[in-house]
Amino acid sequence: MKRVPAFLALFGLVACAGNQSVLNPAGDQARSLASLLGLATWISGIVYLLVLSFLGISLWRARRALSVADRPSVEPSDPAMRRTLILWSGLIVGALTILIVASFLVDRSLADARSREALQVRVTGHQWWWRLQYRDPATGTWIETANELHVPVGRTVRIELGSADVIHSFWVPNVAGKMDLIPGRINVIDITPRRTGWFRGQCAEFCGLQHAHMAFDVKVENQAEFQAWLAGQERGASAPGNAVLAQGAQVFAVKCAACHVVRGTGAGGRAGPDLTHVAARRSIAAGTLPFSRGGLQGWIAQPQAVKPGTLMPAVALAPSDADAVARYLESLR
Ligand code: CUA
Repeated sequence: MKRVPAFLALFGLVACAGNQSVLNPAGDQARSLASLLGLATWISGIVYLLVLSFLGISLWRARRALSVADRPSVEPSDPAMRRTLILWSGLIVGALTILIVASFLVDRSLADARSREALQVRVTGHQWWWRLQYRDPATGTWIETANELHVPVGRTVRIELGSADVIHSFWVPNVAGKMDLIPGRINVIDITPRRTGWFRGQCAEFCGLQHAHMAFDVKVENQAEFQAWLAGQERGASAPGNAVLAQGAQVFAVKCAACHVVRGTGAGGRAGPDLTHVAARRSIAAGTLPFSRGGLQGWIAQPQAVKPGTLMPAVALAPSDADAVARYLESLR
């Protein structure tokens, strides 16, 4: 390893810091895939170096030979040549067989259900955001949120993937491989995170103008934190605590409720993300902006400037109303 060139080592360091990297696995499935990638890189790297060295040697020998007549002539029927050909063919077939078997075994291990009591989560892709629903094991009801996936560490989570419009792809490289979200069917991916922390998920199938801004935050946390978070998500929104928040709630009910749910209020629109606990999330507009009051105000005033093509329409609001709505959303923890 000491002889790995410096620039290659640099790639390694970049990967170590990555919260969106296949080379920094934080879950069983990602670890299997990273090992497969490592094996494939070693085998193809060795073959590549061998081919280049033999090419170099033969060029060097050809230059040394003074004329064509001086070059050794090798016929395929020559026993030495035949042995060499058999050896090389054997090496290539052997290397490819190793890769095929390893790839098959990794694929099978990914498809294996690790636990029958997996936590059940539904993810629905929308242009360009993620609807997330958690099955409450106690009541069997579904708890909805959006754009921020929380999962407990050390436990298998079974994620059912569907789409409301076009094909998307669910990808949290630190935790597992990709799986497509296809309209009209449900795909399933199991993830078993092994390390706590924040990671980044990204839509990995081109799905229109804002495909690049279809991201989500992933928090792997311990079981107690996760339970507390889920219980918080299950609750309805808290009532506005002062006059400005009440004004914001009122404007929201008139201007925003047709598309957004805020549980515990009359707002029940299903076109956009559930905002019951929007202020508990790290980002807005599916990873487009960090969460802040200013970000909310900019997003509400000019969604087409922040995320051109988004289905969120620009809503004309008086400045005091826009401020009140942003403050109200900021209070929805
Ligand atoms: Cu959704 Cu790309």
